[in-house]
Amino acid sequence: MCGIMGYVGAQSASDILVEGLQKLEYRGYDSAGVAVYDRAHIEVVRAKGKLEVLKSRLDECPVSGSIGIGHTRWATHGKPSDENAHPHRSENVVVVHNGIIENHMELREQLLKKGFEFTSETDTEIVPFLVEDFLKDHDSLEEAVRNALRKVQGTFAVVVFSASEPDKIVAAKNASPLILGIGEGENFIASDIPALLKHTRNVVVLDDGEMAIVTRDSWKVTDFEGNERVRQPRKITWSRVMAEKEGYKHFMLKEIFEQPRALTDTLRSRVIESRNEIVLDEISYSQEQIEQIQRVMIVACGTSYHAALVGKHWFEDFSGLPVEVDLASEFRYRKPIVNDHTLLITISQSGETADTLAALEEAKRLGAQDLSICNVIESSIARKSTNVLYTHAGPEIGVASTKAFTTQLAALAMLALYFAKRRNFLNDESLQTQIHALIELPSSIERALDSNEEVEKLAQEFMNARDFLYLGRGPSFPVALEGALKLKEISYIHAEGYAGGEIKHGPIALIDEKMPVVALATGGVTYSKMLSNIEEVSARGAKVIALVKEGDELLKNVAHRTIEMPEVPEIIRPIVETIPMQLLAYHVADKRGTDVDQPRNLAKSVTVE
Ligand code: M6R
Repeated sequence: MCGIMGYVGAQSASDILVEGLQKLEYRGYDSAGVAVYDRAHIEVVRAKGKLEVLKSRLDECPVSGSIGIGHTRWATHGKPSDENAHPHRSENVVVVHNGIIENHMELREQLLKKGFEFTSETDTEIVPFLVEDFLKDHDSLEEAVRNALRKVQGTFAVVVFSASEPDKIVAAKNASPLILGIGEGENFIASDIPALLKHTRNVVVLDDGEMAIVTRDSWKVTDFEGNERVRQPRKITWSRVMAEKEGYKHFMLKEIFEQPRALTDTLRSRVIESRNEIVLDEISYSQEQIEQIQRVMIVACGTSYHAALVGKHWFEDFSGLPVEVDLASEFRYRKPIVNDHTLLITISQSGETADTLAALEEAKRLGAQDLSICNVIESSIARKSTNVLYTHAGPEIGVASTKAFTTQLAALAMLALYFAKRRNFLNDESLQTQIHALIELPSSIERALDSNEEVEKLAQEFMNARDFLYLGRGPSFPVALEGALKLKEISYIHAEGYAGGEIKHGPIALIDEKMPVVALATGGVTYSKMLSNIEEVSARGAKVIALVKEGDELLKNVAHRTIEMPEVPEIIRPIVETIPMQLLAYHVADKRGTDVDQPRNLAKSVTVE
């Protein structure tokens, strides 16, 4: 859960590292640092706080040199501080690390006995000491890193360089992402592709158990035994602007407005109306396998878990398969009933969430058929999965997930219809209705985005509320949960999502005139029940902000405020309802002046348990 950047070439390493780290700050931002080989010695500059602090420190004391490594941190072992910031160093070796070294205490004891003096509380600091120790035995840097990593247990992406071979960077990966960027007379290493795009489009995504040995004019990949592996760089076709703000105040807002495009990309070539079919070429299920599946389990975290809860409705309605949804962090610590009749679906934007990855591994071990819905291509979850359905949302930089969520929903809807057809559960006419609705999704989202100004006014009115309740029923209940999660994570206002029918079983005691209640009441079989729930809370003084379909005069008279959204087919209703929820959270947070794209205490991909 940190961002790593490495550079070797002819340009100023510190400029390239800081620029790259800017693109990686979503991975963690409680401290940052760089190490550069500067005229026969290694200079390390580190600073607690965001990258801006490091930048001013570098402005005051610039470092020159054209080889270096950098890091932006999300603390696991040791509080955010200058001392715990990476890079960590010994006399001749510097290291940046992402992941957790599980046996660091034991290794620390051994290194203390050998006379190494620790200056940080991190697990990482053992790595430069181990490498230094092997260098003393006249190992090359490559061998020293390899020998050091043999002693280490846990997850890591490490990047190392040494004054002993100051033209070389050695990187190694086990369970945390690392990408090699191949340039002309310069080479790069980073935790994620957007950090490389300004410099090169040719990348090698390292696999677990691989090391890269990189100089200005050469690179090679080996396994941890030193055997060379033949890897061909692949070309990245994303435009660089796709990963930048494009004039929006925040990445989150840009990503909210990108949803029609992201959804079009996700649905493209998959929803084939003329053939009344969902074509998922990347998924390979024989008819026998399809028939073998008796139940579905969907496992995910955070926003992706909310997508799973909506997906349950679609799978049960359209494919007739019973569905269980679980939080990945809970799944792996109980004894789930999983066997070869279970289809285990994991959902993850980043594809790096440690709990989801572990749940996938456990389900595979238990014999499940597995499939993942991922956004990040070649991420760890994608690569561990037998079948992957990519969402094609493009890079999501805002920590609060927006376009990843709606594209996950689109992927789940397609998957449910795919199984409906393969299991012969829906008749052609019903399938056609649903397929046509999916075709209309991007334009319906465009129309829902028209509520932006209206929602901004509501945000102004309610920005100082202390708490919010969100109510929904059926597939809108998970959207209420998602609305509440969005609000709390970026505005720091306490918010809870409830199923409308549950409110009378306790939460109604919270209601008074200070409590805004966001009620999702845009239609469906529970519309009249939702109306009653709105009456119940209004009667107790709540200020109800009702999300309604265009022209709903009834609710206009009951609710304090309404947000209108286009009337859309049932299947896409939860996806369209999500838009005003995202906008409300965004505008409240923006007006409160929080750090919308990088909210406190959070990180974009949670690669620790
Ligand atoms: O990358 P993933 O989808 O696996 O991430 C799961 C959660 O960490 C993520 O959805 C988180 O809840 C977001 N901050 C929500 O906006």
